[in-house]
Amino acid sequence: MVNIRPFREEDNDSLLDIEKLCPQGNEEYAMITDKGPDITARYELYDNWEIRVAEKNAAAVGWIGWTIKQGMDEPYLYIAEVMVHPDHRRQGIAVELVREAEKAAHKAGISYIYCYVYEPNEAFMNLIEKLGYIKEKNIQEISISAYKKEKIDSGYEIERINPEDIHETIKLINSYYYGNAQFYPFTTESFRDYTNKILGYGLENFIVAKWKGHIVACAGFWDASVLMEVTYTKEPMMWKLMANAYGILRHFTRMPDIPVEGEVCKMHLIVDFAFEQEHSLAMEEIIDYCNNLMFETNCKFFGAYTDPDDSVLGVMKKFKPIHEKLFLYAKPISGKVPDFSRIYVDCRDTIL
Ligand SMILES: CC(C)(COP(=O)(O)OP(=O)(O)OC[C@H]1O[C@@H](n2cnc3c(N)ncnc32)[C@H](O)[C@@H]1OP(=O)(O)O)[C@@H](O)C(=O)NCCC(=O)NCCS
Repeated sequence: MVNIRPFREEDNDSLLDIEKLCPQGNEEYAMITDKGPDITARYELYDNWEIRVAEKNAAAVGWIGWTIKQGMDEPYLYIAEVMVHPDHRRQGIAVELVREAEKAAHKAGISYIYCYVYEPNEAFMNLIEKLGYIKEKNIQEISISAYKKEKIDSGYEIERINPEDIHETIKLINSYYYGNAQFYPFTTESFRDYTNKILGYGLENFIVAKWKGHIVACAGFWDASVLMEVTYTKEPMMWKLMANAYGILRHFTRMPDIPVEGEVCKMHLIVDFAFEQEHSLAMEEIIDYCNNLMFETNCKFFGAYTDPDDSVLGVMKKFKPIHEKLFLYAKPISGKVPDFSRIYVDCRDTIL
């Protein structure tokens, strides 16, 4: 008999132990995340959160976590994770946990619920499709290997943001994401609060590119590894083939690294990027700048999550990135699912 109850601080270690047994993916392609030492740290990025723990004989066997976000009109709910210990699967525990989130959503007058699914995670996809969630959108995940230093010499001034540049930068971000699902225009105050609340981000890690004194491109450079480390427990065949080919070419020239099965990846992410289309080179130079920070500190991989139609993908091509995919699933509760044809990816949601 499963009992579902609120999270208690003393659950921390057992949940982290369960997480280590929970790769997301299938037999050929899967990754595992480690959010230690504090399972709740990723939730502290949000204004509110709930974790419900499933227990059997007084031992935790799984959990679900969510946050409620305030939209323009109505709130909506994000399911951040659902994990069930391998010894207790296929007994309907995950279904019960998702139902808990749905009950909370009804109670709070939530418009819709959404979650992200890592592409190879067929089990979770089956589960939520069974519960009526619809695949609404693909999200591109890009990983870049900082395998060489890039030259920055095209005349843009690349620098960390100055307090007096925040206003102009926010105008650029607000116009870049205008009309995208889940984007709510920032004010100077809200942007400052939002970036500073995210561990490893903060305004001190926000970079701008100026042209003739004006901000034409910008991006945050978030050290997401302070909240999560990723290990590929099963590497896709394509990566193995690429690693072999790159290994041969490496005798002649420098080539990107590919994550190796079992390797712990400490990801940094380019977030809240925006640029004027005629200054895509400025965006490229910001990425060069981030690349060089990684290269100099011996950190191997950085990346981004983005709408697949975002023109930043064209800019990133030169870095020979690896492409992965997430699916956004959503279900209406007391309102409608928004138009996801363009989406702003809330970086906090990418801690999977
Ligand atoms: C995905 C996960 C949470 C499912 O937990 P669970 O308690 O076994 O799920 P349930 O017993 O409630 O399954 C309900 C339905 O989901 C689908 N499902 C669950 N596991 C499945 C699997 N391995 N393969 C195919 N379908 C699966 C089935 O339709 C199942 O119904 P059925 O058993 O009647 O066929 C669990 O496998 C897990 O923890 N995986 C690793 C972590 C993860 O990927 N979490 C999700 C992203 S954060």
